[in-house]
Amino acid sequence: MTDERHDDEKTTEELDTSHDKAIPRRRFLDNSWKALGVVLVAEGVWTSYDFLKPTDASGLGGVVDAGAVADFMQEGTVKYSLNGRFYVTQYQGGLRALYQKCPHLGCKVPWDAAAGEFKCPCHGSVYNLIGEYESGPAPRGLDRFPITIENDHVMVDTTAVVEGPPPGTHEGPAPGAGGTTT
Ligand code: FES
Repeated sequence: MTDERHDDEKTTEELDTSHDKAIPRRRFLDNSWKALGVVLVAEGVWTSYDFLKPTDASGLGGVVDAGAVADFMQEGTVKYSLNGRFYVTQYQGGLRALYQKCPHLGCKVPWDAAAGEFKCPCHGSVYNLIGEYESGPAPRGLDRFPITIENDHVMVDTTAVVEGPPPGTHEGPAPGAGGTTT
């Protein structure tokens, strides 16, 4: 009887030993996968919460205080809210909160006080003091937000975007009629 054996042959004892070593390794791997799973679920829950939680009411996505009503007494007033990303304009006693985002491709539309118009720097769409479409590739006037007056302050609800008026609507002044930036 020969005592020779190949390198890849193992005795029962050796197999038992390697089996015993394999169990803690497998348990470690199982636990690692479970831990990873818990981390992924926790991240998913956090991401969902972060996405769905109510937005700070002091900026875009909440109700924004645009200032005292007294600030809008002058005809043609245009006041910008950096927090809310909108302009409030006054025309013939009426206030409108106009979203700064161009309805064409979304550029920020500045008020040009000298020209008395909103003019988009990207493709040249022009809007009058109350955000009505005048010219350019935009499909409509500037979108707007509902306004309420609370404690003599102009409160703008930026949670609800109202589509701007279609081209051809002309209730406001023609571009160039002027306005006052405050
Ligand atoms: Fe304003 Fe194109 S994004 S005209």
